[in-house]
Amino acid sequence: MCGIVGYIGKRDAYPILLKGLKRLEYRGYDSSGIALIDGFDLDITKKEGKVVRLEEAIHKKEGSIGIGHTRWATHGEPSDENAHPHVSNNNSLAIIHNGIIENYESLKIELKKKGYHFSSETDTEVLVNFIEDIQETESLSLEDAVRVALSKIVGAYAIAVISKEDSNKIVAARKGSPLVIGLGSGEYFLASDATPIVEYTNEVVYLNDGEIVVLTREGYSVKDSEDIQQTPYVQTLEMELEELEKGGYDHFMLKEIFEQPRSIADCMRGRLNTETGNLFLGGIRNYSKALQNAERILIAACGTSWHAGLVAEYFIEELCRIPVEVEYASEFRYRNPVIKEGDIVIAISQSGETADTLAAIEIAKERGAIVLGVVNTVGSSIARVTHEGAYLHAGPEIGVASTKAFTAQLTVLYMIALRVAFYKGTIAQNKYRELVTEIGKIPKKVAAALESNEKIKKISERFKDAHNFLYLGRGYNFPVALEGALKLKEISYIHAEGYPAAEMKHGPIALIDEQMPVVFIATRDGSYDKIVSNIQEVKARRGIVIAIVNEGDAIIPDMVDYTIEIPATHESLMPLVSVIPLQLLSYHIALMRGANVDQPRNLAKSVTVE
Ligand code: M6R
Repeated sequence: MCGIVGYIGKRDAYPILLKGLKRLEYRGYDSSGIALIDGFDLDITKKEGKVVRLEEAIHKKEGSIGIGHTRWATHGEPSDENAHPHVSNNNSLAIIHNGIIENYESLKIELKKKGYHFSSETDTEVLVNFIEDIQETESLSLEDAVRVALSKIVGAYAIAVISKEDSNKIVAARKGSPLVIGLGSGEYFLASDATPIVEYTNEVVYLNDGEIVVLTREGYSVKDSEDIQQTPYVQTLEMELEELEKGGYDHFMLKEIFEQPRSIADCMRGRLNTETGNLFLGGIRNYSKALQNAERILIAACGTSWHAGLVAEYFIEELCRIPVEVEYASEFRYRNPVIKEGDIVIAISQSGETADTLAAIEIAKERGAIVLGVVNTVGSSIARVTHEGAYLHAGPEIGVASTKAFTAQLTVLYMIALRVAFYKGTIAQNKYRELVTEIGKIPKKVAAALESNEKIKKISERFKDAHNFLYLGRGYNFPVALEGALKLKEISYIHAEGYPAAEMKHGPIALIDEQMPVVFIATRDGSYDKIVSNIQEVKARRGIVIAIVNEGDAIIPDMVDYTIEIPATHESLMPLVSVIPLQLLSYHIALMRGANVDQPRNLAKSVTVE
């Protein structure tokens, strides 16, 4: 939800900011803008639409200090006026902001009384004028004015402010929205995540909530909201530049789908020895006893991560015999949940920045729960506020539709479940070894599932103009049905619903006619015979069935219109494989409909507003 980037140093800031915005565009693409200071000139260019429009519009590119923004609209529609950076009334200050200022209306009224005028509908323009007003009335330095202003702000923010009166200073701050500082030699970078920085330096500081940083060409200083000097922890990034490129694929989403054999293997590397059965998750070692003794586990997440949580509910209960509840993080906070001291809460998030999930973690911690994170983005807010956690090690996921993060989440959660079950004694030795061996084979099975790509492309051709889709699965494949439907609707804008197949007769069956494509995830598991009956029920009503089946299935292919085969595995691991054709189906359909696969309308990769 909005990406921010900044640079101060000796080079031209413009190319660094522009490239940074392109890397951050996945966070929001309603508009973008850049502010540069050259001498005492403050130049701002901003444009509605994608960064490429800004690139076409910009004329003045000079200056070795600047800030840039790519927006996901909250206050005010996407337009040039509402695009960031915003400038203060005296034309001296420029600001970029990711987040929401909740009390902006009352501040705006006060500022208007003082004669301030506003040219946008944004909360951000209010903030920059509030800073200007404080700076002028109290004769404060920029950093002090920012600190005083922020002490009166309610809401979430990552901001960066520059002043044309001082071309050797960027003041930045965060609360609730992410901010990373890159440390170069005589130059400094700031961004919403490390992707715009990694090309220039691998030394970074992740700012903590409430901290304010001042960057000059000579150095940087971090203070807390009380103006007390902090000693920041400098972290070395392990991210590779090529992980941020498309690597020959047309879209990040396709690249990320095809990366899964590797990302799943990376996720297990150094943790699970499939030959000896040794399984060690360093990130949760301090709480492994608490996990074994837990009376229940709560899982909080959103979107695809929530679907991963639903699959985990099935295997944690099966393997560990611990009751699991999976919560939409967005609902958790507003319904006074029962959480006991010592309860385990697992927060799942690709970005590690989802505001709803962060809010759920906060409430769980307040009530004495132990909160473990299953997160992809290293150094992200969720990774830092949880007590312990296990990273996915899936590499950056740039496509807005989550793909490789889902399978990596399942892999990490599965390893946690196996380990708990082993030490708790709820799994027999031979069963444990069987599952460890089987999970070791998953990367190859995913690679085999990916071989259906061409076939899926042909099937997509047939359904690209459909208006509705139904996805049905049972047991472990029910959350996969939900995930397949989410993937299709978010990138192709086709209405799709996922259901447990047995629920069909309680309502959705009324939707079935000869126009309705129904995707069945019908792999060989405990409920195979039941799902065969469900398929018959759809065929009896002339529905069109696309079935995901295991290789060699001799029954279903004769009953249905289209079959996609995937390798067999243990039913608890099946979602890792059965989701693959659904990811490909949504990708091809979206592409054939001319949709922007990596940056679907109205969406953003990190949802940092509640
Ligand atoms: O970064 P997170 O995993 O916390 O994000 C949660 C959801 O916003 C995310 O999964 C979203 O639903 C994706 N666009 C789904 O593809």
